[in-house]
Amino acid sequence: LTHIKIPEGLQKLPGPKPLPIIGNVLEVGNNPHLSLTAMSKCYGPVFQIQIGMRPVVVLSGNDVIRQALLKQGEEFAGRPDLYSTKFISDGKSLAFSTDQVGVWRARRKLALSALRTFSTVQGESSEYSCALEEHISKEGLYLIERLHNVMKADGSFDPFRHIVVSVANVICGICFGRRYSHDDDELVSLVNMSDEFGKIVGSGNPADFIPFLRILPSMSMKKFMDINDRFSKLVKKIVNEHYNNFNKDNIRDITDSLINHCEDRKLDENSNVQVSDEKIVGIVNDLFGAGFDTISTALSWGVVYLVAYPEIQERLQRELMEKIGMDRTPRLSDRTDLPFLEAFILEIFRHSSFLPFTIPHCTSKDTSLNGYFIPKDTCVFVNQWQVNHDPELWKDPSSFNPDRFLSADGTVLNKMEGEKVLVFGLGKRRCIGESIGRAEVFLFLAILLQRLKFSGMPGEMLDMTPECGVELSRMRTAQRRRWSPRAFGESS
Ligand code: HEM
Repeated sequence: LTHIKIPEGLQKLPGPKPLPIIGNVLEVGNNPHLSLTAMSKCYGPVFQIQIGMRPVVVLSGNDVIRQALLKQGEEFAGRPDLYSTKFISDGKSLAFSTDQVGVWRARRKLALSALRTFSTVQGESSEYSCALEEHISKEGLYLIERLHNVMKADGSFDPFRHIVVSVANVICGICFGRRYSHDDDELVSLVNMSDEFGKIVGSGNPADFIPFLRILPSMSMKKFMDINDRFSKLVKKIVNEHYNNFNKDNIRDITDSLINHCEDRKLDENSNVQVSDEKIVGIVNDLFGAGFDTISTALSWGVVYLVAYPEIQERLQRELMEKIGMDRTPRLSDRTDLPFLEAFILEIFRHSSFLPFTIPHCTSKDTSLNGYFIPKDTCVFVNQWQVNHDPELWKDPSSFNPDRFLSADGTVLNKMEGEKVLVFGLGKRRCIGESIGRAEVFLFLAILLQRLKFSGMPGEMLDMTPECGVELSRMRTAQRRRWSPRAFGESS
């Protein structure tokens, strides 16, 4: 690092002194969102740490993050070449791989258009405004039935475990045109293992940063490879079935539309970017993977906040009863009529910041930020948690208060405040599932809240300490077993 030549007029990045081999891993510790936020107070919004042998630039603060990801978007749009990401989707992932810019851009465009088409397309029944609404409504109602049964049998439930299957079914419907039973062993074990995935991607895996650790046997790395392997196998099986009964005149789902794209492209000899069939059809791997884990985590946090703040839960239910009542299931178009629920969701995103960092970025050429020189191929962490808890942006950031997103009389959502919450990233790498994600969190919560009341198990303390990986922070596993839903109206 010392031999990097800094161009004239630019400065060397500030940051803590690294130890040999391990770098700053001790200072970063197990809660990187907190330790890196603390460091930003000391070194400013652009600083450098060393994780193992790899230098990493950490960005904080609304202005600097916008400057990098929006104004200098092209220079910060790469992904670092990390050891663990080679195992995600056979190294062919859209979100994690180090594809060349042209290839990534072509795949991202395809993924976006496929998602848009298959979520807004008309569903099977005209009762629903679109296929997405139909999938979520049906899965929401199944989930309620499921929770009733689990409550009867066990007296309490683990929200993530059940929610994740319902959410996985929504994205399965869009990607593969099918749903699974909550008792399906293959799907249930797979989606419930996604915990391990979250712990390892990003800087969760020391072997990404300290090369010699790669040759040591690591339990979690083995599990990680195993999950990715099983995940890919499941998707491959479904994709093969689609190839076998593919009919160009009846495009049923995203997988069909991607296969169709490969066929069309073979006819189009002028296409200027070469993307293999495997990489095109492989997009479903990313959509399926990204499509259930994030949303189920958001919803599980939602349940935890409902239990922690019963007065907020009551107010949400009053709003639902006044605007919708019990005669029909909530719909996506109810969003504008339920500003308190919208504010509650924004506050879940902000307060939990359950994706405290974006997926790591990487500089695509030599660049500079705030007067500091950043060489090409530098790994960059974007600290979303810091922005969501920055006292410069938020009054009393540590308190959970949905009202911060409402007008003074509590009737209108303040969109400008909402846009300050950073959970989907920004710019060229911004999440492509954002509108589906927001829609799903809204509709699942509305459906659950209309019919269930959530409360903690009597006598148990609520511990909201998240379990942390850089990519995903989750409730501690034990904490997930405590919430008990009751039919709305039943006394707790
Ligand atoms: C990327 C958040 C739902 C697909 C991302 C990133 C974040 C994020 C933080 C990384 C941005 C960056 O690197 O700067 C979320 C949250 C969700 C959600 C909070 C739900 C509440 C979804 C869904 C899908 C999806 C439902 C697909 C159906 C993707 C993909 C990328 C991505 C493909 C990679 C984009 C790229 O690298 O170009 N998401 N996501 N996400 N997300 Fe989401």
